[in-house]
Amino acid sequence: MSNLQQQFLRGQPQTSSSMVGSGSSPSNRVGLGLGHGSMMDGSGPQSGGFNRSQPIRMAGNDFFTIAPYRKRKDAVRVSVIKKYEILGYIAAGTYGKVYKAKDRVDQNGLYAIKKFKTDSKDNEVIHYTGISQSAIREMSLCRELNHNNITKLTEIILERKCIYMVFEFAEHDLLQIIHNHSHPDLKPIPESTLKSTMYQLLSGLSYLHQNWIVHRDLKPANIMVTSDGTIKIGDLGLARKFNNPLQSLYAGDKVVVTIWYRAPELLLGARHYTPAIDLWAVGCILAELLSLRPIFKGEESKMDNKKQVPFQENQLLKIVEILGTPSSERWSSLKNYPEYPQLAKFTLFPPNLRAWYHSAGGSNKNCLKLLSELLDYDPAKRVNALNSLSHKWFTELPRVTDNIFENSKFKYPPRKIQKDDNDILSMSGHSHQQLHGTNSMLGGTGAKRAFGNNANDQMHMRKKQR
Ligand SMILES: Nc1ncnc2c1ncn2[C@@H]1O[C@H](COP(=O)(O)OP(=O)(O)O)[C@@H](O)[C@H]1O
Ligand SMILES: [Mg+2]
Repeated sequence: MSNLQQQFLRGQPQTSSSMVGSGSSPSNRVGLGLGHGSMMDGSGPQSGGFNRSQPIRMAGNDFFTIAPYRKRKDAVRVSVIKKYEILGYIAAGTYGKVYKAKDRVDQNGLYAIKKFKTDSKDNEVIHYTGISQSAIREMSLCRELNHNNITKLTEIILERKCIYMVFEFAEHDLLQIIHNHSHPDLKPIPESTLKSTMYQLLSGLSYLHQNWIVHRDLKPANIMVTSDGTIKIGDLGLARKFNNPLQSLYAGDKVVVTIWYRAPELLLGARHYTPAIDLWAVGCILAELLSLRPIFKGEESKMDNKKQVPFQENQLLKIVEILGTPSSERWSSLKNYPEYPQLAKFTLFPPNLRAWYHSAGGSNKNCLKLLSELLDYDPAKRVNALNSLSHKWFTELPRVTDNIFENSKFKYPPRKIQKDDNDILSMSGHSHQQLHGTNSMLGGTGAKRAFGNNANDQMHMRKKQR
């Protein structure tokens, strides 16, 4: 076993066990005190009925232990490192790590394996903490999804109290592509790449929304791109079903979308997440692909001591400065939002998106039109994913290509992987993620889960993000 393979499994209990009954040790007995005459102890009718001379078969008999069951299960269970060769790790976070791996049989098959830890370290003592809510969400949703523009989950492996989600590997992501166009000098992303990216992103999103799923964390780092130029929406760790209108999606999940991509209705205190919040985020992504920097780069206000969700004044100000101050004429329900009185204190700004678009180098008027429809203040008027696919920008020439790299002279470097990791559970070795802005360590979705959505951690992360 190579060093890397060993690291992959290090830190886990030596006994392989299934998630079923994973809280008990293999030697634990099933506490069934089956008495005389049980069919199961062999003294039932077929074996001659009652026999008072036989000792009572209490817990402790091998037949009733979970160990043989586990042994049988372990014998047929696929081991992650037997099936995959681990090539290195891509990103790390409090949830665990994402590894690049190769199928040992099909040598062309590349995968990204997301490993979720089920334990946490507290004063050097490791506790088994179970499966995180986000892992459960991601597993249950991804298993049912099948669309060319959603990262494909190929299998889930449970081994040594860890969950491994195996996804098809994507060589790039939008954050990496944006970074390539902005460093060392600014080189605009070609319009054909932009158009194909947006079309594929909206196709994947339309599929999610038709399946009653809101993504809630769309941002460049969560949009993967394969080497053949296909967009794949990833990271469904925060995604939720929205078909139960009675349940407030606000409670328990205070901070959701990364603040720069957060829709104005959420900033004004909306209690329900609707698919429209994802379309706002897509608008922010389109703007970022155009200008190569986040369009609304606000500073996040910290959570106060009472853990109240603070009013994100700076973020809303960034939006208002470009889109103009919203009015009830533009957004009829504006005054009903809990934080409206705060917004009413702002200085008035005129709408400025057109000027922003031209200063960012945009020239196509239909692209600007789509941008303004995605960034509509009123979630009820904001374009929906399905309708956006027949937008004039997508139907006019040049036609939308299936491959975002078609007609482009740009080549992007392959995803960097780290091989020098010493301990899979350590918090070190985050150079890649800092370079590429994956935010799992300091406040991305992984950290949000672990730190209870601490706004502080998220802001800290975002400062590091670029
Ligand atoms: N299918 C994949 N192929 C290649 N890299 C991936 C894939 N999925 C995720 N990654 C990389 O791992 C990072 C973290 O994965 P993600 O699913 O976004 O988890 P997190 O909850 O930590 O944000 C991504 O930003 C990306 O860099
Ligand atoms: Mg992510």
